[in-house]
Amino acid sequence: MKLSLMNNLLGWLNKRLPVTDSYNKHMGQYPAPKNFNFWYIFGSLSLLVLVNQIMTGIWLTMHYEPSAEGAFASIEYIMRDVDYGWLLRYMHSTGASAFFIVIYLHMFRGLIYGSYQKPRELLWVFGMMLYLVLMAEAFMGYLLPWGNMSYWGAQVIISLFSAIPVIGDDLAIWIKGDYVVSGATLNRFFALHVIALPLVLVILVFLHLLALHEVGSNNPDGIDIKKPKGSIKKEDKSKFTFHHAFTSKYDIVDAIPFHPYYTVKDIMGVVAFLMIFCWVMFFYPEADGYFLEAPNFTPANGLKTPEHIVPVWYFGPFYTILRVIPDKLLGMLGMFTAIAMLFALPWFDRGMVKSFRFRSKIHYFNLIQFTVCFLILGFLGTLPASDFTNVVGRIATFGYFGFFIALWFYSKNELTKPVPERVIK
Ligand code: HEM
Repeated sequence: MKLSLMNNLLGWLNKRLPVTDSYNKHMGQYPAPKNFNFWYIFGSLSLLVLVNQIMTGIWLTMHYEPSAEGAFASIEYIMRDVDYGWLLRYMHSTGASAFFIVIYLHMFRGLIYGSYQKPRELLWVFGMMLYLVLMAEAFMGYLLPWGNMSYWGAQVIISLFSAIPVIGDDLAIWIKGDYVVSGATLNRFFALHVIALPLVLVILVFLHLLALHEVGSNNPDGIDIKKPKGSIKKEDKSKFTFHHAFTSKYDIVDAIPFHPYYTVKDIMGVVAFLMIFCWVMFFYPEADGYFLEAPNFTPANGLKTPEHIVPVWYFGPFYTILRVIPDKLLGMLGMFTAIAMLFALPWFDRGMVKSFRFRSKIHYFNLIQFTVCFLILGFLGTLPASDFTNVVGRIATFGYFGFFIALWFYSKNELTKPVPERVIK
């Protein structure tokens, strides 16, 4: 009785909205390569953390006061007086760092398996736009507790814009809405943080997934699971040939339906992630100053600079690039170029083979040196500036940019291994 009521309701809906069709196309029947591994969990985890940030953000907003006079005290109020306010706040602050951890791992996966290469360039560009908006979102959110590091962090970063010739000073004032970081700045950052940027993020995630499902997922072997119809011999069609409503032009081989195979696999990843996340949130929410910095436990004070102004860890790599270049304007250019090069990665790589499994030794080495340089840059960004951080930071910056330039040169005529016809593992 209940089931037929559900069926009737679904039937009624389906005649007016493609509920079942969309679900089958993008979830239930989505043909996913059979060899997805550990690295393929971080897309789903990014979605999970996004939902966590939006939900906890809505509840925090109910108690937060976006004014220079009230912001710091309202955070204390949330932590001490609001029922489970401390939990909401730690879910949100731990969530911010968790977001960047899963995003960096998600990007790293794309990097090693060549998921940015043709035909997934636009998917990668949407991903990079997500990354950029996420950084803006985190930067603006960081001002909201109105702690001393919030204040001075914003002051330092916004003042960078004043290095731009001619319009720089006016631009910095326009961003702040005042001559210094003030309540006006806090107010606009609040508006952007709670509504404008989350909206952009959600739209971009939608486009990201739409672009993914248009071209199909890559996989650890980096080979196409779509083969022109008829090109696979009947006897070679294993049980992994996928009969799918949307495959009229192709034989889809070595694919399995997303549900139940990857829904179950992803649930396992989610449980493991939540165990780590909850441990940090309940027992280690400040993470030794990496997730919540000590100066932010004192209210913003325009007359007292924190001893060392360092950004939260996830900005580390780009902050180091900015800091090790002596000129302010060139530093800013260096930082933005570093991000722009990631955007352009699909065009730096002129190779035909995607996965590092079948690429040359030089590519292997280049990937490793890039990863090491990125980690070093990130770590240095959390340390106070010194001669040591400057020297090492410059070497790592060289390695960072060198990755893209070397890639462009060697990828055209790279000595690759033979690529298998069908997915191996
Ligand atoms: C809010 C942020 C993001 C969310 C929610 C998100 C979500 C997802 C999901 C659910 C998938 C499919 C599952 C998977 O392959 O892991 C995916 C795939 C992908 N994402 Fe993202 N993503 C985000 C950010 C990014 C960023 C920053 C990049 C890179 C710049 C990126 C690049 C990719 C690529 C290349 C794929 C296809 C990978 C493949 O098929 O091998 N994504 N994303």
